[in-house]
Amino acid sequence: MEKLVVAYSGGLDTSVMVKWLHEKFNAEVITATGDLGQARELEGVQAKAYATGAVKAHVKDLKKEFLEDYVFPTLKAGALYEGVYPMATSIGRPLLAKYMVEVARQEKASVIAHGCTGKGNDQVRFEVSIAALAPELRCIAPLREWEFRSREEEIAYARKHGIPVAATAKNPYSIDENIWGTAIECGVLEDPMVEPPADAYQLTVDPALAPDAPAYVEIEFLDGAPVALGGTPLSAVELVGMLNRIGGAHGVGRMDLVENRLVGIKSREIYEAPAAVILHFAHTELERLTLDKRVMNMKAHMANEYADMVYNGLWFSPLRNALDAFVSETQKSVTGTVRVKLFKGGTAIAGRKSVYSLYNARLATYTAEDTFDHGASEGFIKIFGLPVKTYHQVHAGAGTNGEDVAKKAALEPR
Ligand code: ARG
Repeated sequence: MEKLVVAYSGGLDTSVMVKWLHEKFNAEVITATGDLGQARELEGVQAKAYATGAVKAHVKDLKKEFLEDYVFPTLKAGALYEGVYPMATSIGRPLLAKYMVEVARQEKASVIAHGCTGKGNDQVRFEVSIAALAPELRCIAPLREWEFRSREEEIAYARKHGIPVAATAKNPYSIDENIWGTAIECGVLEDPMVEPPADAYQLTVDPALAPDAPAYVEIEFLDGAPVALGGTPLSAVELVGMLNRIGGAHGVGRMDLVENRLVGIKSREIYEAPAAVILHFAHTELERLTLDKRVMNMKAHMANEYADMVYNGLWFSPLRNALDAFVSETQKSVTGTVRVKLFKGGTAIAGRKSVYSLYNARLATYTAEDTFDHGASEGFIKIFGLPVKTYHQVHAGAGTNGEDVAKKAALEPR
């Protein structure tokens, strides 16, 4: 009998999928669930898989690997998709794909099925990653081809086949959640003019209802990765979990974004990612202190490239190795401490220090301690401004209300 691995979340789609795949392909269905910190969804997932007809149900805690090997590289790169989205969903897909491949090989399965729709980014991320890691494996996306046209039809199929369906009322939103952040779409959110209702948010309080006193967090970075909070060394999972709690309680980390999907459409999604927002903010502030000006500028370009690469599902590509080499080099000096103030949904810088600080008080000060060579500025300005001066000698009057002397001379009859 053919063996098939399903990327299983325990939700309605992937539950129906287990049965549907078994019937359609007459195959043994094995489920694999990667734990990226989607705590609420994972309870009883294994029992549910068996109850749904899986012959084997794998579950693996991937949180540490997720943060250290996937998320932190994007943090070091400063990669935010379209300048906003910290990509919790996007960066989880390559790791889940890698895990599916691992299970498929272990189980000697020839096919991997996933529950992504035919109009999203996730199908691309999954399938490109699997093709990169295991070109011999086939991918199927039942949602692109099966007969069900609505949730009701899926529920009817589930009932008919004795698949357990949660009796709870359907959440009006489509939610994807992991330790790096939550993505929420559908329902009333499909109208970009509608402000997200209070019930759309899952883990942050309304900034207006956040405490009237700010919270301070002191984050230590080592080579660009966060390693301690308030002087206490923490694992990546502890540190991110703690910042999610503190940030969420102060209403930090909400985003509302109309974004460009890889499949050509614009979609509106809201995100909640307190730890991601705080860490990106703090990391950037530390870089302002320790990075050379030109490195900083180049890195900002690279950050966009990095974000596009991750969003577009190209994690397992030579571009990532090349960009990571650049980013790693820059992070050698991103070691230090940043104090961030969290207040009513906002983050503010409250202090920063580093052994690699390029801030030189004796150069910056306006007091008698000043060592800056003021006289040298005169010659510097002469040379620096020379091209501008030369231009205006030729284009006298250009850009002002006066006449353009060069143009007048050129037009004069010889
Ligand atoms: N737009 C985000 C991305 O492409 C999240 C997709 C999943 N969103 C969801 N609400 N299920 O990475």
